[in-house]
Amino acid sequence: MSKIVILTGAGISAESGIETFRAEDGLWAQHRVEDVATSEGFARDPAMVVNFYNARRKQAANATPNAAHKALAKLQQLYAGQVVIITQNVDDLHERGGSRDVLHMHGALNSALCVACEHRWPAAMTMAPGDACPKCSAPAARPDIVWFGEMPYDIDAIFDHLAQASIFAAIGTSGNVYPAAGFVAEAHRTGAHTVELNLERSAVGGQFAEHRTGPATRVVSEWVEELLAKPVQPRDSFK
Ligand code: APR
Repeated sequence: MSKIVILTGAGISAESGIETFRAEDGLWAQHRVEDVATSEGFARDPAMVVNFYNARRKQAANATPNAAHKALAKLQQLYAGQVVIITQNVDDLHERGGSRDVLHMHGALNSALCVACEHRWPAAMTMAPGDACPKCSAPAARPDIVWFGEMPYDIDAIFDHLAQASIFAAIGTSGNVYPAAGFVAEAHRTGAHTVELNLERSAVGGQFAEHRTGPATRVVSEWVEELLAKPVQPRDSFK
């Protein structure tokens, strides 16, 4: 079955008011990655890390899905079972915009993880260091975020989807972080048509067959309307 496999990054949530990471005023200009996005940083100062994600969880809860999130949800609904959304984002704007079965390869703000027994449960809006795990009672809760140096989630499923893709689209991601930045090469290898939708060319922009430049609320909506106006081609038509 031909699939449309979509990877999203922080740029798809930018117009919902959630800052990206590598913009000049982005998150990594305000915080040191090693302090707030590594297990070493969490071990060094759990309160600072928990509070960093409490602030991001609150910001995401106050944000609303934008036209790009909604356009992808419409595509997913109309091509039932053929559209896979993989996101590097930890907000839930895809789901609140109507998408289903989103693969959060870098984790999710709304999930908490027990370091002791690996149980997951819906995170409180405000977590505290040493929160007890509801399953094993250990004071070992942490944000369920994949930090640098940790294995992203759902990688096997993602590569299975890429093997079946007739179209691979990357939306609002700078192509700086692997393995996500390598998905376009894998999509090419398996014969998919590749398209990048972004304000500018990403670090792997040269590997895409097609580019649609502009804000996601415009270029994603236009792209989806064009797809809906014609059936998804069988894989060999994009060769
Ligand atoms: N519309 C489309 N693209 C946009 C918009 C917009 N309105 N605003 C910004 N962008 C693009 C930028 O041009 C950039 O290419 O979104 C991208 C954001 O890049 P990053 O800030 O690097 O975010 P992302 O690619 O998602 O980062 C990947 O890095 O730090 C880790 O785990 C973190 O998931 C994150 C990963």
